[in-house]
Amino acid sequence: MTAPEDESVSWWLIGPVSELSKKQCRLLYSSDGRDADVCLFYVSGDFFAMDARCAHSGGPLCDGDIEEADGVLQVFCPWHDYDFNLKTGKSSTGLQQRVYEVKLDDGNVYVKHQSELSLQPFSQVKET
Ligand code: FES
Repeated sequence: MTAPEDESVSWWLIGPVSELSKKQCRLLYSSDGRDADVCLFYVSGDFFAMDARCAHSGGPLCDGDIEEADGVLQVFCPWHDYDFNLKTGKSSTGLQQRVYEVKLDDGNVYVKHQSELSLQPFSQVKET
């Protein structure tokens, strides 16, 4: 028996693997506005998705350096250098960045998220 899916969360088609694997990180715009944007990382043959704004003070994680230590892939926030595990979103500082499931289907990348995601900005985002 499986738990019922949260109906507000959906899989969003982002684009073809062949394109998205050309860059280490893409910013995915959220229909919920800037604070819900997501980073889609492509590192060592795998995709990872996490909130684009750092849980510390909102730094742009897409611009962070990525390093591997003891088999753990981490992104370092460009603002204060906090580390976040790409898979779990955990930081050695105790902060937790939200991460999202990614799946590949028929050559395309999908990300599971509570709001619509797009490589292009939404024309009407909620002002915060
Ligand atoms: S804003 Fe990311 S470490 Fe401070």
